[in-house]
Amino acid sequence: MDLLNELESLVPELERGSGQAFSLAELEELRVAFLGRKGRLAHIMSHLPGLEPEQRPAVGQKANEIKARLTAIVDARRQELEAAKEAAALARFDASLPGRAPWAGSLHPTTLVQEEICAIFGRLGYDVATGPEVENDYYNFEALNMPPEHPARDMQDTLYITEKVLMRTHTSPMQVRTMLSRKPPLAVVVPGKVYRRDSDLTHTPMFHQVEGLMVGEKVSFAHLRGTLTAFLRAVFGADTQVRFRPSFFPFTEPSAEVDISCCMCGGHGHVNGEPCRVCKTTGWVEILGCGMIDPAVFDSVGYDPKSISGFAFGLGVERIAMLKYGIGDLRMFFENDVRFLSQFV
Ligand code: FA5
Ligand code: MG
Repeated sequence: MDLLNELESLVPELERGSGQAFSLAELEELRVAFLGRKGRLAHIMSHLPGLEPEQRPAVGQKANEIKARLTAIVDARRQELEAAKEAAALARFDASLPGRAPWAGSLHPTTLVQEEICAIFGRLGYDVATGPEVENDYYNFEALNMPPEHPARDMQDTLYITEKVLMRTHTSPMQVRTMLSRKPPLAVVVPGKVYRRDSDLTHTPMFHQVEGLMVGEKVSFAHLRGTLTAFLRAVFGADTQVRFRPSFFPFTEPSAEVDISCCMCGGHGHVNGEPCRVCKTTGWVEILGCGMIDPAVFDSVGYDPKSISGFAFGLGVERIAMLKYGIGDLRMFFENDVRFLSQFV
C-alpha cells in the first residue's frame, strides 16, 4: 500500500539528511521539515481520512512507529553535534596554563584607619554618630564659643557657601548637635570629612577627622589623658611616644594638642643628614586637638556646667594613617593611584 511505503521511505531520507546537517540549527530545520506540524509525516497522514476505515488502524500504527524512529535519528544526531561542539571548545582550552587570580579591591587607607579608630572607641563604650558636611555657621563656630568677628575663626581657613552656610572646617559642630539631641551621660565618636583652604605636605583641602565627646558627672582631664593614651597605644603600639602640649581652642578649657613621634625620621628630626620634611626637624607630628568642654559651650546647649563636665577631642585620620603606615606625603591619599592604594589590606 502506497501510504505505508511512503512512511517507510521517510526513514532513509532523514538518515541521509541528518548526516549532512553540521549544525544544531540545520538539524532543527530538518526536524521541522519531517516532524513539524506541516512536515512530511503530517502531510502523509493528512491522506488518512481518504482511506477505507479498515485500513486506517494499520497506517496509524505505522505512522507512530515511523515517528518514533525519525525522532530517534534526530536525537542521535543532536547528541553527536553537541559532543563535537564541546570537544571544539575544549581544544581551545589549555587546562595546564597557570590561573589568573581575580582582582580583589581593597579599602582606602583612610577608611581602614577610620574604621579602626571607631572600633577602638567602640570597645571603650562609645557610640558612632555622623553629621552634615555642609554646616551652619552657628554649629561650626558660634555655638562653639566663636561669635562673629572672633579672631579664632581665622585659625581655620573656611570655605563659605553663603554668609551663614559653610563647609564644616572640623567635626566639632557635632559636639553641639549631639549634646542638643541627647542627655548626659554620653560618649560618642563622629568620623567624617572636613574642608579647609589649605594645601601642603601635611595639609589638604579636604581631610577626615574623628571627633570624640564624653560628657557626664565628674569627667576630668585625667579621664581625657587616660582615654587618649589608651587609644594611641592601641593604634601605634604599647611603647609609642606621646606628648600632650598646652594649646588653645575657644570651645575647650584647658586645651591641649597631642603629638606623636615622627614616623619619617623616627623622632630624630633628620633623615640621612637631611632635615625631615614631615616634622620640620621637630621630631614630633601633631595628630589631635583636645580639651575639657568650655562652660560657654554647655550654656549654648542648655547643659548645667556646675553639675556636668566633659572632654572632647578631634583627630586627623590621614595624619594617623601617615604615621601608622610611614607615608611621607599626605597628598598620596587623594591621588587614587592604584599602585599606592592596593598596598593596604
Ligand atoms: C580642630 O579641628 C579642633 N576641632 C580639634 C578639637 C576637637 C579640639 C575637640 C578640642 C576639642 P585642628 O585644626 O588642630 O583642631 O585639627 C585637628 C587635627 O586635624 C590636627 O591635629 C591634624 O591631625 C588634622 N588636620 C588639621 N588640618 C589638616 C589638614 N589640612 N590636612 C590634614 N589633616 C589636618
Ligand atoms: Mg592644630
